[in-house]
Amino acid sequence: MKNDIINRTDIIFLVDTFYKNVALNQTIGPIFTEVAKIDWAHHLPKMYDFWESILFGKATYKGNPMLVHFALNDKTSLQTAEFETWKTIFFNNVDDLFEGENADMIKQKAQSIADLMHFKINSPQPKIKIV
Ligand code: HEM
Repeated sequence: MKNDIINRTDIIFLVDTFYKNVALNQTIGPIFTEVAKIDWAHHLPKMYDFWESILFGKATYKGNPMLVHFALNDKTSLQTAEFETWKTIFFNNVDDLFEGENADMIKQKAQSIADLMHFKINSPQPKIKIV
């Protein structure tokens, strides 16, 4: 029997494990390491805040993930393969480490944000503002 995700320490453990696996993945690892040339010391705490805000309603995360991924998609195409890979790693990591209501909830949230992100990236962005 595994524990549920109950606090920030659990989120830190999940996020650190997730990005270790992401970095090793052939499909999406290079997007982090070569395209975005990510500074992990900066990115990881942002992700702790993000998931703490989503799961526990703490207003620690300030940012706009959609805009960040639109900009990323301009540099390297984010399509079904990339999103499916991201989700598979995320779901497997949650299932490997935790079980319970919050573990289910974080997977549902990840699924809906990923699907919305994927949808928005594929929707044409209006070039003019219609008032
Ligand atoms: C195709 C799948 C994805 C890829 C390749 C990807 C890649 C990245 C990269 C490279 C960054 C860092 C951008 C930078 O700082 O220059 C980033 C930031 C981030 N990603 Fe993703 N991502 C993916 C999906 C997701 C999903 C599904 C979520 C949420 C459930 C998410 C949440 C975030 C957040 C919160 C940030 C920080 C944004 C900020 O700077 O405030 N990502 N992502």
